[in-house]
Amino acid sequence: MGRLRVLVIGSAAGGGFPQWNCGSAVSRLFWEDDGRVSARTQSSLAVSGDGKSWTLFNCSPDIRQQIMANRALWPELGTRDSPIASVLLTNGDIDHLGGLLTLRESHHFRLFGTRGVLSVLTENRIFDAVNPQFVPRIPVSLDETIDLGGGVSAEIFAVPGKVPLYLEEGEPEIGAETETTVGVKVTGAAGEAFFYVPGCAHLSESLRERLRGAELLLFDGTLWRDDEMIQAGVGVKTGQRMGHISMSGPDGSLEAFKELGIRRKVFVHINNTNPVLIEGAPERLEAEAAGWEIGYDGMEITL
Ligand code: MLT
Ligand code: MN
Repeated sequence: MGRLRVLVIGSAAGGGFPQWNCGSAVSRLFWEDDGRVSARTQSSLAVSGDGKSWTLFNCSPDIRQQIMANRALWPELGTRDSPIASVLLTNGDIDHLGGLLTLRESHHFRLFGTRGVLSVLTENRIFDAVNPQFVPRIPVSLDETIDLGGGVSAEIFAVPGKVPLYLEEGEPEIGAETETTVGVKVTGAAGEAFFYVPGCAHLSESLRERLRGAELLLFDGTLWRDDEMIQAGVGVKTGQRMGHISMSGPDGSLEAFKELGIRRKVFVHINNTNPVLIEGAPERLEAEAAGWEIGYDGMEITL
């Protein structure tokens, strides 16, 4: 029997839900106190094999709020302490690493990422506040297995992605499978395993084969439709241009994952424009009918 605990501590995409400056169709339901929507913080998971030592998969700008909302991440009383032993970054986006600045205070934990992602930290001196003397930055190669302690290991793999928005110069290449954007396979002591892919531009053949038959997948749920942000009047970019596959349509994730035999599929990294955030909305019902769960803050899964 396995005992891997997976906590979805933040289920929204960049900006969270509702986003601070957004009153458009879906976000406004929150501001209007509509009970069909719930607030969500930005994209992050916490995972443990023993319930004592935890790894964060991405560290969002909302990490302080996420720690407060999840007792498992509280310090042991009476001392300076944190159960957060490691942080693994899946890309260099602000929603995935901005919270590192909150985890300063000369406290030891291990920080893992690809060389490319870790270079963001070296090139931006403000991250020296997370002093490498206390927080070693450990580069991880693609397909390398990392020991996270407590019998938990993680293997990272390239997924179709894009450089972070703030590093774009001209038209970025979209969908290349490089170390810029990775997914993670996390395995527990009894061999129980799940996949975490919070950002993905399309389902490539290699990714499809890797995920086939998985027990659990937490996957990029940014947008329902590719032109959703344009339609909502909140942006000029398509999901594809942002490096995110949409849920709906012939090339969408609902269709792409139909035949892969994945036992449990959960959307995370959900954008504040996505109508699946509304309980009972037709889009939500369609996603659920296709076998997907809509991730929420505080969702806990034990494998
Ligand atoms: C993304 O997932 O596309 C990014 O987090 C967008 C952003 O930087 O806000
Ligand atoms: Mn993001």
